[in-house]
Amino acid sequence: MKGVILAGGLGSRLRPLTLVTNKHLLPVYDRPMIYYPIQCLLNAGINEILIVTGGEHAGDFLKLLKNGKQLGLKQLAYAYQEGEGGIADALKLAEDFADGDKISVILGDNIIEGNIRKAAGDFFTQSSGAKLLLKEVHDPERFGVVAFDDDGKVTRIIEKPENPPSNCAVTGIYFYDNDVFEICQTLRPSGRGELEITDVNQAYLERGDLSYEMLDGWWTDAGTFESLHRASNLVKEGGANNLELTAVQQA
Ligand code: DAU
Repeated sequence: MKGVILAGGLGSRLRPLTLVTNKHLLPVYDRPMIYYPIQCLLNAGINEILIVTGGEHAGDFLKLLKNGKQLGLKQLAYAYQEGEGGIADALKLAEDFADGDKISVILGDNIIEGNIRKAAGDFFTQSSGAKLLLKEVHDPERFGVVAFDDDGKVTRIIEKPENPPSNCAVTGIYFYDNDVFEICQTLRPSGRGELEITDVNQAYLERGDLSYEMLDGWWTDAGTFESLHRASNLVKEGGANNLELTAVQQA
């Protein structure tokens, strides 16, 4: 399975930092943010990766990551998203790279403590559809949130609900079959003018082809000053499962 890291958008919530570089190259404790999703995929055995990025500083990725070989990647490809039309808009650019296969998608500002290898393996044996990784949070209104019925079955996924139906957030780690690109073509922009990944996930739910697992260990995004600061603290204190990449880099 190939991996896709979505690192587009303009990072406007992190201005002025993002006036001089891409949000995903900002430091999270001792390394650039983008190292964490790369290591997350590598830890799951995924070493063919596409990074979708955008904005004025997209060239900075090449300076840092080059062709990815020094990071242990077999293939590192790049795609450029014009504007910030949303996560599902960025995902559309991965269609040729996916080349008919299943993909594992991770948002470039998501950092986890644990390992998604088991979930990736489970999805590999899932015949079709999508898989989400969920995490209980104290501030679900910031995220995509899942509603459950009494049997623990997902009934709906809502983006940033004012009154969250549960405290289970949809993390920015997704597994999709190749139908995802067809689904992306059917989407209409949301109230915030974006093609929403939540609408993609809702479409799989309506097909009856969506599974989920709970994510072990801590999880954070890093797209606001508060969450960027928290991410650095979590990495420093809790240690993300990311030490190898630094070792590879220094070798
Ligand atoms: O972090 C998990 C959450 O991420 C999910 O729970 C939400 O359902 C999902 O919509 C998303 O919410 P955010 O509002 O936090 O997403 P944000 O706009 O901050 O974008 C997150 C990453 O997605 C960003 O670091 C890069 C990528 N992205 C985003 C946009 C808007 C793109 O590649 N292109 C884009 O146009």
